[in-house]
Amino acid sequence: MTQNPVTRAVVIGTGHYLPARVVPNAEFAATLDTSDEWIVSRSGIERRHFAAEDEATSHLAAHAARAALSQAGITVDTLDAIIVATSTPDLTFPSVATMVQAELGMTHGFAFDVQAVCAGFIYGLANAHALIVAGTARRVMVIGAETFSRIMDWSDRSTCVLFGDGAGAVILEGQPGAGDTGDRGILSIDLNSDGRYKDALFVDGGVSTTGTAGYLRMQGKEVFRHAIEKLAKTAENALQKAGLEASAIDWIVPHQANLRIIKGTAQKLGLSMDKVIVTVPDHGNTSAASIPLALSVGVAQGKIKPGDLVVTEAIGGGLAWGAVVLRW
Ligand code: UT7
Repeated sequence: MTQNPVTRAVVIGTGHYLPARVVPNAEFAATLDTSDEWIVSRSGIERRHFAAEDEATSHLAAHAARAALSQAGITVDTLDAIIVATSTPDLTFPSVATMVQAELGMTHGFAFDVQAVCAGFIYGLANAHALIVAGTARRVMVIGAETFSRIMDWSDRSTCVLFGDGAGAVILEGQPGAGDTGDRGILSIDLNSDGRYKDALFVDGGVSTTGTAGYLRMQGKEVFRHAIEKLAKTAENALQKAGLEASAIDWIVPHQANLRIIKGTAQKLGLSMDKVIVTVPDHGNTSAASIPLALSVGVAQGKIKPGDLVVTEAIGGGLAWGAVVLRW
C-alpha cells in the first residue's frame, strides 16, 4: 500500500550510566527482616546501583547524554532539544534538563523535564516525537535519570529493596519515511493515566504540602494487580495504531520493575522471553531511567539492531502508563 511521505523520529544513538556503587541483596538482609531469596523470588532483583552522596540526578543524566552523543557520532551543537524524564530532580527548579544542557556546554535550543514517574520515558519519547513531527526540532535527546535512593524509607522493607539509581539516553532525529510500517523510527504511541489510583504509589512529601522531599510509599500488590493487564493492553493498542501484530515484534523493552510482571506481560502478548530485554536483576527499578538503560544495554549487547521492531511499555505512579512502537 502506498502511503504519504512522513517525518519519522528515528533513534540515532543510545547511552547509559550507572553509579559505581553496587548493592547486592545481602546488604539489606544485614539490617532488615528480609533475604536475598525473598527479593529474588518476588521481584527478580539481585543487585542495584546507588549514587554517591555528591552525585545528583543531573550528573547521572549528563554521563548518559555524553555516551549517547558519542555513540551517535554527533556533537552537542547539532542537538535542538533535551527532555529529561525524572521524578527525582536535583532541585525543585530549574529542570534537570537545563542543568544537563549547561553541563554539555549547549547554549542554544531548549530543555525541559517531564514527570510521569516510571512511565516518564514513554511520555518523553511522545514529546520528542511531537516536536520532531511538528518541525519544532530536528534532533532531540530524551534522557531518563533517577536517584530513587534519595526517596527511600530504609526501614520499609517492602519498598527499599526494589529501587536503584541510573540514567539512560536516546537521541532521536527527524528523517523522511514512506509512511508505512517498514519505516525506521517511532510508528505509534499509546498514552494513558488514571488519577483515581494516585494513592497506590506516591511520595509522601512535596513543595506545596510538607515542604520536604518525602518518601516513596507503594501498595505493591495493588500496583501489581494493574500492571500486567494495563501493560499488555497499551502494547496491543500501540501495535494496533501502527497496523502491526504482536508476532512482528523483535524486542519488547519493558519497564524494569519486577521480573514476574515482565514475564506475565510477555506471556499475555504471546511472546517468548528470548524476545525481551531484561535488566531488572542488575539494576532494580530505576523508574524513568529503566527503559533507556535497557535500550542502551540491549544495543551494547548486540541484541537490538537497525531494522528491528521494538515495543517499549511502562506503568507507574499516577497511575500513568503507555507504550511506543518503533523500528530501530
Ligand atoms: O515501578 C512502578 C511500578 N511498580 C511495580 O510494578 C511494583 C509492583 N508490585 C510488585 O512488584 C510486588 O507487589 C512486590 C515485589 C512489591 C511485592 O511482592 P508480592 O508478591 O506482591 O508480596 P506482598 O507485598 O504481598 O508481600 C508478601 C509478604 C508480606 O508478608 P505477609 O503479610 O504475607 O506476612 C510482606 O510483609 O512478604 C512480606 N514482605 C517481605 N518479606 C521479606 C514484603 N517485603 C518484604 C521483604 N522481605 N523485603
